[in-house]
Amino acid sequence: MRLVGAELIEAREILPGQWLQTYHAPALATGSRAGQFVHVRTGDLSGFVLRRPFSINTADAATGTISIHFRTIGRGTEWFTHLRPGDVIDMLGPLGRPFEVDPRSQHLLLIAGGLGMAGVRSLADEAIRDGRQVTLLFGAASARDVYPTALLPDEVEYVIATDDGSVGHHGYVTDLVPAYEAWADQAFACGPEPMLKAVSRLAATRSHRMGVAKLGRKRGGGKAIPAGSPAARRKAFLQVSMEQRMGCAVGACLGCVVMATSGTPQRVCREGPVFASDEIDWEGSWGR
Ligand code: FES
Repeated sequence: MRLVGAELIEAREILPGQWLQTYHAPALATGSRAGQFVHVRTGDLSGFVLRRPFSINTADAATGTISIHFRTIGRGTEWFTHLRPGDVIDMLGPLGRPFEVDPRSQHLLLIAGGLGMAGVRSLADEAIRDGRQVTLLFGAASARDVYPTALLPDEVEYVIATDDGSVGHHGYVTDLVPAYEAWADQAFACGPEPMLKAVSRLAATRSHRMGVAKLGRKRGGGKAIPAGSPAARRKAFLQVSMEQRMGCAVGACLGCVVMATSGTPQRVCREGPVFASDEIDWEGSWGR
């Protein structure tokens, strides 16, 4: 984790109220992995605006740049839209635990809802670079909210669902998942809590419904894999990236806690934001 000065290279509004900004931050571009995030200080010194967490949308070690994708939803995010190329901001990162891809997985299913695209976008790059096949299921309210195809690698199969049916499948992105379950070796999701709950329910019943074994499960024993470890995430069929509100983003304020099935509180900023889906108690109270 480092605190760096990140220089804005480019900013554009890619969708109504949604911005893509590219920053020159070589230390973050080379040291980050898909699923991690940065915590950024705004220039609003009134005390009312906290640092903001952003998923690392893309990271390019060759150019030393990272990008963030965000929606303007208040004073803090609005402030970022007034930045101009050449402006430098404080960026802390990379933070959080990344997605873990099993080395044997060739077919990755990415599932994103709305701004959850930013949580899985970088994984598409990493997977393509490593020679894997990627299908990305994306859900949005309507065509005007659909992430532009031109911003994805050509190799990605991109399948869209919209709530109003204005483009792609008419319905939720989760409706699309069953058609890809048999193809996928692993799945990775980021989006609103109801979406994550729905895909986690599907994943929980997948082995039973499809009669498939979990990756890496040894018959008759084998070494126990500690819950919450990178190895546990790597063996899971579904990993989720949680979009919790954050205060400190470094594990101190407990403002981002979710409950694990073990009964242990998990700080999304430290133990997450990526979890194996079966680590999370989806039906329990998260104390928010
Ligand atoms: S945001 Fe403060 S502990 Fe996670």
